[in-house]
Order: sequence, then C-alpha cells, then structure tokens
Amino acid sequence: MIEEAHMIEIPIKTEQRTYSIHIERGILDKVENYFPTSLAPKTVVIISDQNVYARYGKRLERSINNMGLVVQPIVFPAGEQSKSMHMAMDIYRQCMDAGITRQDCILTLGGGVTGDLGGFVASTYLRGIPFIQIPTTIIAQVDSSIGGKVAINVCGRKNQVGSFYQPHGVWIDPDLLRTLPKRFIRDGMGEVIKYGCIREERLITQLEALDEQRIYSHWEEIIATCCRIKGEIVQHDAYDRGERQLLNFGHTLGHAVEGAGQFQSYTHGESVAIGMSLLTAQTETLHLTEAGVTERLRQLLQQYHLPITTDIPWEKMTPFLQQDKKRRGDKITLVVLSRMGQAVLYPVLFSAVGIYLKGTAI
Ligand code: GLY
Repeated sequence: MIEEAHMIEIPIKTEQRTYSIHIERGILDKVENYFPTSLAPKTVVIISDQNVYARYGKRLERSINNMGLVVQPIVFPAGEQSKSMHMAMDIYRQCMDAGITRQDCILTLGGGVTGDLGGFVASTYLRGIPFIQIPTTIIAQVDSSIGGKVAINVCGRKNQVGSFYQPHGVWIDPDLLRTLPKRFIRDGMGEVIKYGCIREERLITQLEALDEQRIYSHWEEIIATCCRIKGEIVQHDAYDRGERQLLNFGHTLGHAVEGAGQFQSYTHGESVAIGMSLLTAQTETLHLTEAGVTERLRQLLQQYHLPITTDIPWEKMTPFLQQDKKRRGDKITLVVLSRMGQAVLYPVLFSAVGIYLKGTAI
C-alpha cells in the first residue's frame, strides 16, 4: 500500500486486470489525477440514481469536462427494483443512442445497486467496455465496488444473473459519507465489522475504541483496511472458488433474514450482523469458536447500533436458506470464526445446517 499525505492507493492485480483503488477526500473534483492512462475515451457515461446524481452529478461532470471529455449522464430511479433486466435494456439503448463505443467508458456513481447494475451493463455492452466505480455508501466503498462482482436481479432473486468483471479503477471519497443517513452508516458497519472478524483483530480493537461519531475522522484508514483485506482475497480467488467465500461470514443466515423481512425489516448490514451473531453463538457452543468471541462480537455490534438477533420465525427463513446461491448440491459452506480475526470455510450437509444456525434441525 502506497500512502501519501491524504491519498491512499491500493493496487489490485487480477488475471483479468490490474487496477488501483484510490481513496482521497474530494476525489470527485480531481478525477483527471486518477484516470488510467490506458483509457482514452471520447465520451464518459455516468450511471447514477436520481438521488445521488442530484447531489454529486454536476460536480463529477465538471471534473470530467475539465479533461476535455464529453459526458453522457444516464440516471435511473433509486432503489433495488432498478437492478433489473428492464433497466439494463434501457441503459443499453441510451448508450447506443449516444454512440458509445468500446473506446469510451462508464463511471458508476452511487451505492451497491448502481455499481452492480452499471457494472453489469459495462460487462455486457459491446461484450464489455471499461468502467470505473465511484462508490458513495460505506457498503459500496468497503465491499461491493471491489472485486468485479456485477449483477442484476432476475425472477425475484438477488444477483441471479451477472459476471465477474473487474473495473479499471475504484475512486473512493470518504467525505461523501458525511451526508449519509445514520441507518446507512449502521448498514455499512455490519460489513466493516465482518472484515475485522475474518482477518484483522486490530480493526476490531480500533472499532471498539471508537463510536458512531468519532469514527468520521478515521474513515480513510478504516476504508483502506477493508479494501486491502478484500483486495488480497480477490487477488487470490477472483472467481469465488475458495478463499473469497470467507467474505460470506454472516451472509448465509443474513440473506435469509433479509429475504424473510422482504428487504424492508432489515438492511443488508443489519441482516449480516444478525447472521454473524447467531452463527457464532452456535459455533462457540460447538467449540468450533474460541470461548468469549460471541460476547465480544455482540458488544461491538451493539456499540454500532446493530441487531444481534431477530424475531423472524425460522419457518419464514428456511425457504431463503434453501435457495442460497452458496449451496452446492446437498452441501453448503459456512464461514466459521475460529477466533476473533480468523475465519475458516466449513462445509456442512445442508440437512444439518440448522445445527450451526439455531442448535436444532431446520
Ligand atoms: N461481497 C462478497 C464478494 O465480493 O465476494
């Protein structure tokens, strides 16, 4: 990691592409400093939702215009429902109308929905054109913008159709987090805590010493720690065949909680918090996890106002567990904390998964 004044650069080397994550306050106003020299677009497409575009779109446009490039904004309604084939078709059409070619590039400006949808379009339009992620939420800055997973929802299932398509850069501006509502901050903290749990006890200790307010002056280093952990994992396993699955800690149950709550009761980060907490309580009982880890994890989750359990009945969650994309035949791989800061992959028979999630069969 190269650190210079307030700019942090984290290089990511994958089979598909080598690129950098740049973290700097105010990066939106100086994108010319970060545009990869391998790209020579005439037109830059900005894909963004209405809310984010209204807040930051013009600033980014000015910054690109200063480079003498044409900007083509494509703005869609905010929300998960936009992560659809219908919206992807609409964006393809707008790209065709604007005469976008493979020489041009896409910038995705927004949260996870924008990055996934815009990245999916970039990976398929003309069989793939360059794209750069500019994530504006914590979850997107520490997780979804990195590593090249892009997707849309199909037939009511999240991320059912997509690809692995690495971006040409990720530009992160921690200042954008200042305008996020508190619930989005909490949502992101679920994933941040996950990184500490699976790979870096030091991050857990740092978070324990901070709180929702004091964390603001530490965002650069916290985001950088998460990006570095994710970058290392993705470099080893870009296609999710092994180590990358560690990033799913808390997600098996988390996805079931999220789905059973119809994506209304809990945010993704809140659902992951519940998933990490309930799974770790069971694995500690089964002596797969060092004693005391559950208590420490739960205290930290609560310190950041995240839930540690749910009253959603198991019968409602079971169908979502059955549909889990992580299931392979009759097996599912759980991610178990052996101790704080260290996780292992733990394949179990699907018929026995309940033992690890709630202590009895489901
Ligand atoms: N969000 C998990 C992954 O990128 O693999």
